[in-house]
Amino acid sequence: MLTYTVRGGRPLVGRVAVSGAKNAAIPLLLATVAAGDRCLIHNVPEVSDIAAAADLLRHLGAEITPGYAIEPAITRTDIPAALAGRLRMSVILLAPLVARFGEASTASPGGCEIGARPVDFHLAGLRALGADVREAGGRITCRANHLRGAEIALPMPSVGATHHMILAGALADGETVIFNAAREPEVVQLAEFLNRMGARVAGAGTSTVHIHGVSRLVGAELTLIPDRIEAGTYLLAAAAAGGDVTVEGARPDHLEALLGVLRRGGCGLTATADSVRLRAAGRPRPVDITTDPFPGFPTDLQSPALAWLLRCQGSCRIVDTVFPDRFGGVPELRKMGAQVDTDHGYATVTGVARLQGAALQAAPDLRGAAALLVAALAADGETTIAGADALARGYHALDQRLRALGADINARA
Ligand code: EPU
Repeated sequence: MLTYTVRGGRPLVGRVAVSGAKNAAIPLLLATVAAGDRCLIHNVPEVSDIAAAADLLRHLGAEITPGYAIEPAITRTDIPAALAGRLRMSVILLAPLVARFGEASTASPGGCEIGARPVDFHLAGLRALGADVREAGGRITCRANHLRGAEIALPMPSVGATHHMILAGALADGETVIFNAAREPEVVQLAEFLNRMGARVAGAGTSTVHIHGVSRLVGAELTLIPDRIEAGTYLLAAAAAGGDVTVEGARPDHLEALLGVLRRGGCGLTATADSVRLRAAGRPRPVDITTDPFPGFPTDLQSPALAWLLRCQGSCRIVDTVFPDRFGGVPELRKMGAQVDTDHGYATVTGVARLQGAALQAAPDLRGAAALLVAALAADGETTIAGADALARGYHALDQRLRALGADINARA
């Protein structure tokens, strides 16, 4: 188990470059099973969730070479529990596997522990496209000779279900229309990748996506967008610790909701098309935050933003409409003197002048762990974060990069 030791209170100063987006990389890697030939994905981040996706593809028969060339020579269509448990997004393999091979099965998916994460939208969508979907003994089995296009209205704009239904529609007979689709940049990128494979997907990035199915997809090449959540985490770390940090590669058009919140909290921001500079200004002003699907404030930045606001000059309310129980790190933050009350769906933060270093245990949720680190950077004295391995799921070389910005942080196994 990895433990971080952080001596807080040092401002962060300098430049940090963001990696390719983890949450764009995962669906693209999985989408390669829909293609008949070799695919090339550039800018894939070195994080452990990507290693999990690569292991899953290898299990199915794909060959992966460094630089992320993927030869989708698929030889099997069953996903074992051990692999499905490492990556919740694995469920989106069902559609391309069924479309190409007539059947697929998986265990109920895993992922971060951030409250209930059912896959009912995915299964209802597959059924609407004509698949026979059965659930028994902790496994989901799906069969179809052909998927056929259909109209699918998602109950809420789920990112994963939108990815899945775009993949399903791409190889279905006829037209598929997804209503109430997620509009995240990662969805736009999946559509772009599939279109390069020969798919006909229109409207990604809006709430209605139209897909004309094709009989075969070919290999394609794409460079991933920068990771907006990683970028946002560095901005929030700098806002909390104080300092002057430029995040290179950060796309302000992907970060508008966060930038608005940081500005209202008193931070100075300067953006170009592909960088954001943040100058912190002492204790933040209180800002209420409500998470929402894109372009709203991202749930993945809710916990790090809460950590930044622990020292606000007043009180504020944080509502998570996407994952209402995503406040798992709060009991640890209280050990640092934070004053936070939580209830289902929201947290109330009463700002304190100072946070004290403490011995913390990282929550299994990746972004909850990031919140502990943000608070540690802002706190007086020493904080240890046990279970910091959780951060490697989504952040590459986080300790080294923060050290390069002036943080006093060490990692030991
Ligand atoms: N939902 C259902 N039924 C479904 C699918 C979703 O009820 O069949 C609900 C969920 O329970 C949740 C809401 O819909 O309340 C939204 O979930 P969504 O499906 O959008 O989440 P996801 O696709 O499983 C992705 C990201 C998450 C991110 C969410 C929301 C990846 C690999 N994961 O998950 O990222 O929090 O979208 O933006 O893209 C992270 O990176 O730390 C992370 C957890």
